[in-house]
Amino acid sequence: MNTAARTFSLLTWLLLAGCGQSNSGTTPTSNSSPAALSKVPVGIAVAQTSNVALLGQEEVAGAKIAERYFNQRGGINGTPIKLVFQDTGGDEAGTINAFQTLITKNKVVGIVGPTLSQQAFAADPVAERAKVPVLGPSNTAKGIPQIGEYVARVSAPISVVAPNAVEAALKINSKIKRVAVFYAQNDAFSKSETEIFQQTVKQRGLELVTVQKFQTTDTDFQTQATNGINAKPDLVIISGLAADGGNLVRQLRELGYKGQIIGGNGLNTSNIFPVCKTLCDRILIAQAYSPEYKSKINTAFRSAYRDQYKKEPPQFSAQTFAAVQVFVEALQQVNQKTKINELPLAELRAKLNQQLLTGKYNTPLGEISFTPEGEVVQKAFYVAQIKMDADGSNGKFVFLK
Ligand code: ALA
Repeated sequence: MNTAARTFSLLTWLLLAGCGQSNSGTTPTSNSSPAALSKVPVGIAVAQTSNVALLGQEEVAGAKIAERYFNQRGGINGTPIKLVFQDTGGDEAGTINAFQTLITKNKVVGIVGPTLSQQAFAADPVAERAKVPVLGPSNTAKGIPQIGEYVARVSAPISVVAPNAVEAALKINSKIKRVAVFYAQNDAFSKSETEIFQQTVKQRGLELVTVQKFQTTDTDFQTQATNGINAKPDLVIISGLAADGGNLVRQLRELGYKGQIIGGNGLNTSNIFPVCKTLCDRILIAQAYSPEYKSKINTAFRSAYRDQYKKEPPQFSAQTFAAVQVFVEALQQVNQKTKINELPLAELRAKLNQQLLTGKYNTPLGEISFTPEGEVVQKAFYVAQIKMDADGSNGKFVFLK
């Protein structure tokens, strides 16, 4: 294709991208000046509504901070990025819709999303078929990068994250022997995570005294909590999502369980505080991010988050910031080889996908890179313990040394 034709195709897709629907409230109107349309559209498909938004809204926050941060520093060599938000809701159908809209209507170069692995298994194949790069910000189930060549994630798999919480529980109480495990059987991530927890329990020579199942839509856990307590555990491990997980913790405590509780990755948000209030106290949760990580970019991210939200940034915000960062820095690299405004969209998406897998990124999560398959390579993990205020109205994650 000659230069004129390439330039025409970029202008065409930038224009189409700018005219796409977005619920971010920042979509340029048809009256926008051409300059306002000359932004590189990056899709964000996370849960902004439903119970899954307890995790997804933290992802929106991280993405917006990243957009501001990188655009203040020149975006893609002078061309700003523009995040296009499409709400996935909490299910698979909404996620497929959001992906399709971003791909065909908003003409994004790549997609950050979705929130849940359960949604990723349904929607990532849509992006794979369209050859649009996807970066999972929080999908931690086994098998996500294997969905296809265009699927990678910045969220470390549960196999490397979850065992840290069991180790921390044993460090706090070396007498732990009997472990009760609970998991949401209708959620792909929870099923994947419980396998890892159950393996870890056995490898550590602990006794798995009961395995209790529930649904992420459940609110009443009396049967499972009673069965769990009757098995006399010293440690309870829960793999579920925020609303159900928080409710299960509350009901276990109300029924008199006094031992240690580990919450999985789906409970890793202060949005569980209003659900279990003071009874959230002492829950241990493994972390793929620490606000205290010392680096220039984390200092900037942490202070931007704290200025806006008056608390420490959570893992899901940091991971989504990192996902946007990977797209930005990979686009900068692509642009150095061939000006991205001379590339047709399909070619740009393909080059972006190739490039992002080869880079190293200094993110708030630490330095990350990817295996050729799209699995994140990350060095440091942490464990935090929830400390609630006496009245249960607020709390914080205290990082263990
Ligand atoms: N880590 C959770 C998942 O993969 C949110 O679904």
